[in-house]
Amino acid sequence: TVSPDFIKGLPKAELHVHIEGTLEPELLFELAKRNSIHLKYPSIEALREAYSFTKLQDFLDIYYAGANVLQTEQDFYDLTWAYLKKAQMEGIVHAEIFFDPQTHTARGIQFETVINGISKALEDGREKLGISAKLIMCFLRHLVELSAFRTLEDALPYKDQIVGVGLDSSERGNPPSKFTDVFAAARREGFKLVAHAGEEGTEAYVREAIDLLKVDRIDHGNASIQDDHLVDALNERRMPLTLCPLSNKALHVIQNMEEHPLKKMLHKGLLVTVNSDDPAYFGGYINANFQAVADALLLNKEEVAQLARNSFHGSFLSDDEKACFL
Ligand code: ADE
Ligand code: ZN
Repeated sequence: TVSPDFIKGLPKAELHVHIEGTLEPELLFELAKRNSIHLKYPSIEALREAYSFTKLQDFLDIYYAGANVLQTEQDFYDLTWAYLKKAQMEGIVHAEIFFDPQTHTARGIQFETVINGISKALEDGREKLGISAKLIMCFLRHLVELSAFRTLEDALPYKDQIVGVGLDSSERGNPPSKFTDVFAAARREGFKLVAHAGEEGTEAYVREAIDLLKVDRIDHGNASIQDDHLVDALNERRMPLTLCPLSNKALHVIQNMEEHPLKKMLHKGLLVTVNSDDPAYFGGYINANFQAVADALLLNKEEVAQLARNSFHGSFLSDDEKACFL
């Protein structure tokens, strides 16, 4: 068995965390009050009780509703700062953080408001907490590609603050192929590329993310294990996969932790990492995710340490920066 202290003590990079998914019920209620927003839940406890999901869409409905309390630059700052303080306690030294601009611009919040609040907190995180951080802007795949193109336009003035673009939201019925052109445009602008694929969707979606979107990293990718040729293709490219065990359990991608593909993937040589996805909704931050797979899959210390090292190899840090952490 691997102890909580061992996991906490390992320097880690978090590569798959949605900033909107770190909004804890306590802060959600505080921001609702600050912005005079009526919530349909009478208490923090009642809200937490609603966090019981049978599939991805159940979660997304509640997650987008929760994001409505985020209105001002200060709100985005407070959200991001709260995550960074948590991250520091977890032994995270580098974080590559997703945000979903369309969730906010569709409500009339300016792109500028969102990015300025988040970026100021990341700057304070570097200075006061010593946490290195990068931002990845995700397109919502349930919306049309034209909306993603508009979001890419919005982002261009802030290019120096955004390392990459990603793809998230409702996977089934919204294949990577829907976003081929906007990913090509993002690539021409110099953005790194990632996409959620093979979470609820099949291995064919992982294939499309690699072949059509030409991603640098796959988010989740659980379904890849179904196809040996795909596993070979991922290994040839040394493609990082950002796994999120507690998320998979909460969203019934797996029925119990013992069936999580992480250990098989690790033993097939895949560059797998452990991440928290939406920790405020799925019951744990990065260390709880490490502990859950270590316990259920009987990982030894060397395997757990490998997962932590993989997080730096799979990151968008430069080779020189990686060398500082490894
Ligand atoms: N948005 C936030 N978390 C997500 C997930 N796990 N899958 C797809 N979209 C998301
Ligand atoms: Zn995710």
